[in-house]
Parts: sequence; C-alpha cells; structure tokens
Amino acid sequence: MDERIISTDEQFADDWQYSLRPRRLYEYIGQDKVKKNLSVFVKAALNRREALDHVLLYGPPGLGKTTLAAIIANELGVNFRQTSGPAIERAGDLASILTNLNERDVLFIDEIHRLSRQIEEILYSAMEDFALDIIIGKGPKARSIRLDISPFTLIGATTKAGALSPPLRDRFGVISRLEYYSTEALVEIITRAAQILKIPIEPVGAKEIARRSRGTPRIANRLLKRVRDFAQVEGSKVITDDIADRALSALEVDRAGLDHTDRRLLEAMIKKFNGRPVGLDTLAAAISETRETIEDIYEPYLLQLGFIMRTPRGRVVTEAGYNHMGIAYPKLNDNPLPTLFDFEND
Ligand code: ADE
Repeated sequence: MDERIISTDEQFADDWQYSLRPRRLYEYIGQDKVKKNLSVFVKAALNRREALDHVLLYGPPGLGKTTLAAIIANELGVNFRQTSGPAIERAGDLASILTNLNERDVLFIDEIHRLSRQIEEILYSAMEDFALDIIIGKGPKARSIRLDISPFTLIGATTKAGALSPPLRDRFGVISRLEYYSTEALVEIITRAAQILKIPIEPVGAKEIARRSRGTPRIANRLLKRVRDFAQVEGSKVITDDIADRALSALEVDRAGLDHTDRRLLEAMIKKFNGRPVGLDTLAAAISETRETIEDIYEPYLLQLGFIMRTPRGRVVTEAGYNHMGIAYPKLNDNPLPTLFDFEND
C-alpha cells in the first residue's frame, strides 16, 4: 500500500473524509466546467423522467470522481450503487448487480479500465439496450436468453481514459475530465473542511496547505489533519501559515508539494543521467519503483508543474525542475554525447 503522506490512495484516506464529502452539486468546489455541464444534463434527464445518459469521469486520483458520482445520484434522487473494475470477477457478479438496480439508479464502477474483456461485453448490451444476454447450459445445448433490466445510469471512473477499450468508451454519452484544482479552489475546500471539523485556521494557513497539496482535495484534507496535530501539540489555537510551513516541512512535503520520492526521482534524472532524456523503464530501475507507479502517481503532477517534460527520446527535467531542486540548469553543450539511454523506445 502506498503510505506517503501525499498518497492519493483512497484506502489511506480514512473515514474522517466521509463527513467532508459534499453531497450536493452546489457544495462541490471547483471543476466548474464539468459541474456546469452535468447540472444541465441532470436537469434535462429529470425533466424527461429518464435515466441520465452514461457518464465517464476521468483524471488523476484524489480529485473527487467518486464524490461527484454520488452527488449525481443525489441530484437525480436515485440510489447510488458502488463497485469497481477489479471487484467484478465473474459474469454472475455483474448480472446480480444489474438485475437488482431500480429504475434510473446510478451504478458507479471505479477503475473501470480494469474490467475483464468478458465482463465488458456483458456491459455493452446492458448500457445500450438495458438487457442482459445470458448463456444457459454448455456445449451444443447452450442457448442465450435475453433478460431486461431497469434503465440505469452507469458512471465509470478511470485514471486512464486511454486504457479503456474503444467500444466501451463509445457507449458513454457524457465524457468529463477532472483537472487538478487551483490553489484558490483548494483554499475553499480546506476552509470548508476546517469549518466542519471545527479547526480554527487563518486564511494564510489554508493557503500554505493548499499550495502544497498537489492540486488534490484528498491530499489537502489529509495535510490539514496533520497540521492540526502539530498546532495542537504546540498549544496553538489557530493554524497560521508559519505552523503550516513548519508542520509540512517536518513531513517532508516541500513548497511545491513534492515529497521525498518525487525529489529522488528528479535528482536521479539530473544526477544519474546528467539531464539527458531517460526512458520510463530505466528511470523505474534507477529509483526502484515500478514503471506503472511512476507513470500513474509521480509523473502526472511533475508534468503539471512543468518540472519534467516528455520528449520522443524520454523524460527530461525542465529548467523549472532544476530551479526547484536548486541545481544549475546545464547549457545545451554541457551535455556529453548521447548514450544508450537516449534511444530507449518509450
Ligand atoms: N472535499 C473534497 N473535494 C471537495 C470538493 N470538490 N468540494 C468540496 N469539498 C470537497
């Protein structure tokens, strides 16, 4: 399990988070474009008394895809059923979920890109025709029967829209991308959470935490909780920017929200590879992480900050990345001749 303080792992985000989750669209801060569109689609579906069209939400972890899906169900006034791609192992699992849905319910499938092929195929007719094709018997006597199910809304969530098979992706009527939150939106989210949890915080304190939360509400709420611990032990009644700064520095979360591993990654790219392009596999081996962890967890935020860049020959640290690490940016001809690493094909 990922145990970094800035982990976006949901299991690591405790029950404490549940009381903080907004339940209605008007309480949900940020993601303005997505919210605006969804509110139109929800209103229109309610008006027609129809199930909302299927929705795909994608974007980095911790940005509120599950929260938003639950809000959509609330706004529609229907039940919210929740499962995940890896949890649906057999066709029967999915059939039992689908046949138990009431009219217009929302079925939320997290990590939908991890559904098996076989399960995906059952989902096609369920999404398109609200029907299940079930095979009864085996061999030459096998026959298929069609079972009607209630019209429902599938909300799928994924961190990688590209990993979804095209036939599945095409069956979503609404596809929305969640973006990293601005510091201003995170300040609002932290202030709201602090109010609910009765934690006194100065606006500058909220801003300091927001700046270091990697654009991610799940991290912001967790850091707020840790900073509160520091304030409490120090006997401070209110979280100031100074306390937030000291607490986050003690937790090794730097001014840009990077932790020890992010910095190790940047340092390896700069020092071990002299700033030349590095392939993902080479980098993974250099810092003893998996290729997937780097691609899904570390890289998106470093790219967003503009600290690294993808080039056809591999990843490189940008001038901003060097500056952040306090290392002088090499001039073009400081680099020796290209090496084998430069031609790795990823
Ligand atoms: N808590 C976590 N994410 C939130 C959001 N987008 N709006 C309000 N509170 C939140």
